[in-house]
Amino acid sequence: SQEVSKIVLEPSEDTTIISRHIYGHFAEHLGRSIYDGLYVGPESPIPNTDGVRNDIIQALKDIQIPNLRWPGGCFADTYHWKEGIGPKENRPTIVNQWWGGVTEDNSFGTHDFLNLCERLGAEPYLAANIGSGTVREFTDWIQYVNHAEGSPMAKLRKENGRNKPWNVKYWGVGNEMWGCGGNMTPEYYANLYKQYATFMADWGNSSNLYRIASGANTDDYHWTEVLMRDIPKNLIEGVALHSYSFVEWENKGSASNFNEAQYFSTMQTALKMEELVTKHIAIMDKYDPKKKVDLIVDEWGGWYDVEEGTNPGFLYQQNTMRDAMIAGATLNIFNNHSDRVKMANLAQTVNVLQAVALTDGPNMILTPTYHVMKMYTVHHDAELIPLKLKGAEYSFNGESLPAISVSASKNKSNKVNISLVNIDSKKKNKIELDLGNLEVKDMTATILIANKLQDHNTFDIPEKIKPGQFKDFKLKKGKLEVELPPFSVVVLSEK
Ligand code: AHR
Repeated sequence: SQEVSKIVLEPSEDTTIISRHIYGHFAEHLGRSIYDGLYVGPESPIPNTDGVRNDIIQALKDIQIPNLRWPGGCFADTYHWKEGIGPKENRPTIVNQWWGGVTEDNSFGTHDFLNLCERLGAEPYLAANIGSGTVREFTDWIQYVNHAEGSPMAKLRKENGRNKPWNVKYWGVGNEMWGCGGNMTPEYYANLYKQYATFMADWGNSSNLYRIASGANTDDYHWTEVLMRDIPKNLIEGVALHSYSFVEWENKGSASNFNEAQYFSTMQTALKMEELVTKHIAIMDKYDPKKKVDLIVDEWGGWYDVEEGTNPGFLYQQNTMRDAMIAGATLNIFNNHSDRVKMANLAQTVNVLQAVALTDGPNMILTPTYHVMKMYTVHHDAELIPLKLKGAEYSFNGESLPAISVSASKNKSNKVNISLVNIDSKKKNKIELDLGNLEVKDMTATILIANKLQDHNTFDIPEKIKPGQFKDFKLKKGKLEVELPPFSVVVLSEK
């Protein structure tokens, strides 16, 4: 007989808000992410606003993009922001040492990025150069974007055409300092972090700087331990974590042509996020029981081989229902840990890794991941509803994984939303969900589903995968019964 998964919602008095910043994005100077993806330049025949593609602007607005991290990634620790301001024709070029060795013209710089964020209604998250920069260069950047007037950098900003400061709150103090950021030990970086953080004045600005320390690589718990132990709490607001999902790091395989074994191992690394955040949080709890410092998962997503014929340094990959499974399950994990996870950034927005949009000349397509992000907007800044899950397993070759992933929240109008994922590649799964005392009378639902796990949107068939209405559920006296098809994402919303 079919195993039934049981979920019980347990609303509590202690409220946790699911920060909308969990639904954040990341755009690095990498491949066709910035140039071509976001930015085509004001002279381009592709419809744009100040050089940024209008189709992308609209798509990102539609998922209510809460924040955008820039300019890297590894690129951040090679980036000198002063080379990206002032008249474009005077800007020096930069060779991208990490990604394909290409030369770029710095035409997308600080003004372009911050104006774009303003247009999107997204908070900018600037990742500063610690690896090859200086304290002076960093503090000048903060002064340039945040100081109202009467400072050398405010003057320079005004000369470059921007009168008001942008009030940038989120600042990354380097990126992957254990690797491309400088191959440092955590002890060395903790010292360096303190030095930089000490001089990060917000110049009397109301932005209340939020300083994020470059965090651990997946399960490097020692890294988190040292940062939490050595950095005084008055110098830090967030500590980061990076974790990608893949088949095998050395043998990633195709993004869209994969077998079940490859799917299963990708989901193993994706679902490991639960263990990772739990263990990193346990270390944070030890040094910071009052939860002053947040966990910021500022890079996550699926990573596969690049599409055939594309530059290996450009990390351009297709996006299938496998990616929808990663997105749906990972976002549920973040929601359920939202008392400590306050921001996350999917890598990367356009044309790179697990992108929400892909472009080809004037055309743009939205990926299954995009649709999950859109379906989950119901959780932005909503109140988390804690829950218990006793779910079915997804078994393959003698190994198993939890098949069901779920999170629930109540929005500002007191309406309940529940996101469910069944990652099983073959089996549908029956769910019995007890809504407790929530008094939900009626619900509607959307589903993201496809015929095959490998299915994806293409420039020829751009809407092969898109959300549809879902009716396979019953709600009676506070008990919800749902039949989740294989590899599907469902969001149920109280009417
Ligand atoms: O997102 C691609 C790269 O992955 C980033 O530049 C780096 O931080 C990480 O290793």
